Amino acid sequence: MSGSGERVAPADITAAALAAFEGCPDERLRTLAESLARHLHAFAVEVGLTQREWEEGIRILTETGRITDDRRQEFILWSDVLGLSMLVDALANPLPPGATESTVLGPFYVPGSPQRLYGASIAEESAGMPAWVHGGVLGVGGEPIGGAQLDVWQNGDDRLYAVQNPEAPEDHLRGRFTTRDDGTYAFLAVRPVPYTIPADGPVGKMLEATGRHPWRPAHIHMIVRAPGYRTLATHIFDRESEYLDSDAVFAVKPSLLREFVPRRADDPERPDGVEAEWFSVENTIVLAPAAEPDEPVDPGRTA
Ligand code: BEZ
Ligand code: FE
Repeated sequence: MSGSGERVAPADITAAALAAFEGCPDERLRTLAESLARHLHAFAVEVGLTQREWEEGIRILTETGRITDDRRQEFILWSDVLGLSMLVDALANPLPPGATESTVLGPFYVPGSPQRLYGASIAEESAGMPAWVHGGVLGVGGEPIGGAQLDVWQNGDDRLYAVQNPEAPEDHLRGRFTTRDDGTYAFLAVRPVPYTIPADGPVGKMLEATGRHPWRPAHIHMIVRAPGYRTLATHIFDRESEYLDSDAVFAVKPSLLREFVPRRADDPERPDGVEAEWFSVENTIVLAPAAEPDEPVDPGRTA
């Protein structure tokens, strides 16, 4: 490849990079690698990527790796704020009619939440206005699913998830609940508040530089698991929250908005442990049948 005097054009470089994967023995891997190279090259050509911008990109990726550890996953945060997490979820989970929609898992899920009884509180200390969350878990045929497991977590009125606050009890604002034979469940939560995604790293710098905000609307997280049904990671969004129209991670789906109904302290349905005003939230969940054998269920803890 020497001395002919012919110049190498950008398209030749792209062709060579693609051809390098031709011998890949795994067909799916070849598709992924070729397509990634093709789209990266097309991106560089389209924007006329400069050497300096390329260096800045490498610096940002390096910083992303540096800040990522067991408790912080900045790569997933990139995926979230670029809308990729929601896109992958939509591609992977075409839903049968009537099934409850999924949305992002987020970085604050900690496996191994304590099992709690029907109606128990997930707040281990004061964390905001009580919210009685109740409903049923059904299949798409309307059959109640007894023994389904709900794994729930949320933030408190300080905007923090327990895992973000070293002062908070480990099990604060999280818990696992099992549906009764008729498919019903209930737990005492608090009304969640909007909060910012972790913005002190490279993702936060990008949001600021591009004029975007880091806020998420108020929500409660839930993973619902039942044998024979597809595991569902979803949210209950407070339909009166700020930022529903501009969620930093594009996770709002209109079907997931719920009303937090204000209830008085003297309401006869006031749950045990509530002494003042409270809210109630009805949230029925409809699970799709499992396409494949069940994934292992997080055993959590029993005490
Ligand atoms: C969350 O809802 O916990 C979350 C989701 C995506 C990015 C950051 C936070
Ligand atoms: Fe969240």
